[in-house]
Amino acid sequence: MPISFNEKNQVFKLDAGNSTYAFMIEPNGYVAHLYYGDKIASDAFEYLYRRMDRAFSPAAPGTTSSESRDVIPQEFGTNGVGDFHAPSAIIRQGNGHTVTDFKYRSHTIRRGKPSLPGLPATFGSDEEVDTLELSLYDEASDVEFLLSYSPFAKYNAIARSVTVINHSQEPVRIEKIASAALDFVDGRLDLIHLPGAWARERSVERHPVNHSRTVLESVRGLSSHQQNPFFALAAPETTETSGEVFAATLLYSGNFAAEIELDQFNQLRAQIGINERTFEWELRSGDRFTAPEALLVYSRDGIGGMSRTYHDMFRNHLIRSHWKDLKRPILVNNWEATYFDFNEKKLLSIAKDAAELGIEMLVLDDGWFGKRNDDHTSLGDWFVNEEKLKGGLGKLAGEINKLGLKFGLWFEPEMISRESELFRAHPDWCLHVPGRGASEGRNQLVLDMSRPEVVDYLFQTICKVLDSANIEYIKWDANRHLTEVGSAVMPADRQKEVSHRYVLGMYELHERLLNRYPKLLIEGCSGGGGRFDAGMLYYVPQIWTSDDTDAIERLKIQYGTSLVYPCSTMGAHISDCPNHQTGRINPFATRGYVALSGTFGYELDLNKMNAEERALIREQVSEYHKYNHLIAQGDFYRLTDPFDPRTVVVIWEHAAKDGSEALVTMVQPRNVPNGQLFRVRLRGLDPAGVYEEEKSGVCYTGEMLMNAGLNVPRYERDGAGELFHFIRR
Ligand code: GLA
Repeated sequence: MPISFNEKNQVFKLDAGNSTYAFMIEPNGYVAHLYYGDKIASDAFEYLYRRMDRAFSPAAPGTTSSESRDVIPQEFGTNGVGDFHAPSAIIRQGNGHTVTDFKYRSHTIRRGKPSLPGLPATFGSDEEVDTLELSLYDEASDVEFLLSYSPFAKYNAIARSVTVINHSQEPVRIEKIASAALDFVDGRLDLIHLPGAWARERSVERHPVNHSRTVLESVRGLSSHQQNPFFALAAPETTETSGEVFAATLLYSGNFAAEIELDQFNQLRAQIGINERTFEWELRSGDRFTAPEALLVYSRDGIGGMSRTYHDMFRNHLIRSHWKDLKRPILVNNWEATYFDFNEKKLLSIAKDAAELGIEMLVLDDGWFGKRNDDHTSLGDWFVNEEKLKGGLGKLAGEINKLGLKFGLWFEPEMISRESELFRAHPDWCLHVPGRGASEGRNQLVLDMSRPEVVDYLFQTICKVLDSANIEYIKWDANRHLTEVGSAVMPADRQKEVSHRYVLGMYELHERLLNRYPKLLIEGCSGGGGRFDAGMLYYVPQIWTSDDTDAIERLKIQYGTSLVYPCSTMGAHISDCPNHQTGRINPFATRGYVALSGTFGYELDLNKMNAEERALIREQVSEYHKYNHLIAQGDFYRLTDPFDPRTVVVIWEHAAKDGSEALVTMVQPRNVPNGQLFRVRLRGLDPAGVYEEEKSGVCYTGEMLMNAGLNVPRYERDGAGELFHFIRR
């Protein structure tokens, strides 16, 4: 059993893959964190429990000064009893106080892993995962905290979540609840995180943690372009390929906060959960509240090892879609080809070219519904605009199917335009605060997804559209962030629940659609990659990575995204040049190399392609079929770092898990005239195997490619790129 409890020394030990996590019940009843790191067979961890008198570190009632909560690393931080770090929970009780103190009460260990009510969660069979439920109890408030830990047998991954139960007769208010807390005795670590912006999502930042409390967060209602619900703490010497990393990601698509705090003794507390700035929850007598799941990953093989664990965990234990292991259809999306200016004839002529070139699906983007000819109107009016599409979607999809293509459609379910039938019928259905105007973003308002009738309306309306035509894919967009987060139906003292209820409503709509259309392929999107998080992956197997389709910019965006998310989830398309976001011109072939490393497609007017480009599209389509199994199911290795100013050629590799094959992608953003000659070491190969590089016919041993490396060609122009395919002979 990967979870054990030793009655004698009161130690809990959790083994996850090659990692071990340990904590103990202290003699005073609190729960002290002892160890997280490489696997250890013995459970005699009690020697790590050290007590020490420290000045200005008060002791909780009934304990001695050497047991101060300020000093002893804990599993979950108390509030107001001597622990001055950020607390893990704040519960406001009927008497107005927020002291939140808890001790061990009981525990259970079981095979498998329960799902979380209304929330995304990793899953696994009884053989793949076990679950420890640790009950902590605050006697004065009569509130219980169930800390759940699920170590996965094959991966260095532990899923955690917390349920709060109010046993008292009075309601209490949850003002803060972290999903996981991690205390370190030696916190001199580097923090790695993924800040960004629209069109510049998930750049990689790394810096030493300093004596402060750093908060990585979103208060935008969605997980956001600006920060990702993820952090990693790495030893200073850790690199891409070696060294220790402790990481956490939150399976949540709304306002989150990760707090990283280094204290006076170089001890560190890191925690992740719903953002307390925009959260509160009334918990009535007898009720329970479950916080979103956090997924911890440990790596001793550097940042790359951490990423590959997340990739495997998401591919095998989080994504549920029917499509998760299936090759996704190569799509062409009409957005950058036509924007709002299309009709049936134009779409069919794109579809005709697509069919000739081997593209498998046409996706009709924004502008097919209501009276929408620009971004000022019609969100919410999810019925077809017959002026643009005579005969409706059924006819269009039928014609497209006749050409041998699938048909997909864009929606933005959570939004509403003032200029819409829906707004005229239900002006109070948008998020707003009485007596104040509602801020607009992209000329639109946000629906109050916390209201069941709004979710019902969307479910029925979307079903009607999906039933009207053979629609096999939808792109689910969300093009603004939330403001004036108020609900017309929540009582005044519970308005702070709305942000979280919004996310729950959005998840519920996904769940209902998935149940009704289990084979529907859904691609998540939010102005590009503004909601690219593990929570969404429970509902959708792929997410549009960024509105920035410039291949050179994408090197960074896809690299940063790959820190946590597998390539099989990253929407990546070849678009037109000059690029619509950057104005740059990159070679058509290079645009293909970069897009191949995601879910592949096109976002341009196929009717305008010249003969050379058409020939390249045919080639790219066959490359997709040839390499997609490596990209979608293989191990991903980042070989050079586009954020490092010394990097001249950006190189990554997709290797088959059995080492039989590998695809290496090289792109040179800018030529360095008369520059250096580089070699790059490949990874994940069989050292004794002999590999033939397909194009050149040159053979190398795996050992040679991994130690001496592959010669990186001297490319003489900006944006040059190449693919290398190695096959074990
Ligand atoms: C967002 C998406 C784009 C496109 C437009 C349509 O910006 O990210 O891909 O769908 O909306 O309005």
